[in-house]
Order: sequence, then structure tokens, then C-alpha cells
Amino acid sequence: MARRLLKYKNYDIHSITTATPDGRRNANIAMWITQTAMGGKMLCVALDKTDYTLELVKESGILNVNLLAEEQTKLIARLGRKSGRDTDKFKNLACETDERGCPYLTEAVGYVQCQVTGSADSGDHEVVVCEVLKQTVLHPEKKVMTHHFLREKGLVRG
Ligand SMILES: Cc1cc2nc3c(=O)[nH]c(=O)nc-3n(C[C@H](O)[C@H](O)[C@H](O)COP(=O)(O)O)c2cc1C
Repeated sequence: MARRLLKYKNYDIHSITTATPDGRRNANIAMWITQTAMGGKMLCVALDKTDYTLELVKESGILNVNLLAEEQTKLIARLGRKSGRDTDKFKNLACETDERGCPYLTEAVGYVQCQVTGSADSGDHEVVVCEVLKQTVLHPEKKVMTHHFLREKGLVRG
């Protein structure tokens, strides 16, 4: 059977990182993220309703959107196929914390610091609306990881 139209779309691959005031933190893999206002002022992030990331994002109201580089393929299994409820995803993970105490991945192309301003129901995901506070480019020389790249490498299906 032919692939359905939305499967032709490509997406950049990110990790959403967050931390609560009492020190719990998490990181996932997320591709359904887009800018939604001129000048890069707002972003929307679709987060799975059952995942630990959404639970912590709702508590903390802050997150970083880390734009992953092609060389970070090991993070797919580590952050995107396990839950932070069961494993410490930060063990040996290259990261620092920003001035808010929110982690960011130091080997990513860069990261966007966000403040949550609202959310909307979206089926099995929740769309989290964010104001962009700051954008930081860490490694302009690196190539952005995309869903098509992961498919070519056999790391995702569909
Ligand atoms: C390529 C890829 C793309 C993904 N995109 C999303 C996404 O856009 N939103 C989301 O909530 N989860 C997405 N996931 C799934 C989560 O990363 C995954 O469920 C993760 O284990 C959640 O961990 P947590 O329970 O620690 O939050 C994606 C996973 C992969 C491998």
C-alpha cells in the first residue's frame, strides 16, 4: 500500500528537556515541534499524554528545545524509547543547566529556552504552547538530524 501523505513530510529531531523546582528532570525525543509566530517568538510542542516529559513540563512550566545533530543518533534509543520514570536518562549525558536550572544538551546544534503559556488537547498528545525566551546556537557546523535521515539509517520506520 502507498504511504499516506503525512508520511512524506520531514521533521527536525529534537530533545525536550525540563526540570521541576524540586530537582526532578527529564529529556525525551520529539519531532512534532514548530514555530507559530513571526520573529521566532512562539513555539508549539506536541507531547505524548502518557509520557513523563509532559508530566514534568506541566509542573515546571519551563522547557528547552534542543535541536539534535546527525551525530547524536545514540540518543534516539536512550531518550526516545525509554521513560525517565524507569531510568536516569542523565547518566553520562552531555548536558549543562541554564540559569533557570533547566538542562540543555551541549552536543546539540543549539537550544531554545521556552516558557509554557498554554496547552490544547490533541488526541493522544497535548500541544504545549511556549513563549521563546532565548535562542542559543552551540555548534553551527553540525548537520541537523531529521526524520528522513533516521529512516535512511534504519533507526525509525514508517
Ligand atoms: C524519532 C522519534 C520522534 C518522536 N517524537 C515525539 C514527539 O513529537 N512528541 C512526543 O511526545 N514524543 C515523541 N517521541 C516519543 C518519546 O520520545 C518517547 O515516548 C520517550 O520514551 C518518552 O520518554 P519520557 O516518558 O521519559 O517522557 C518520539 C520518539 C522518536 C524515536
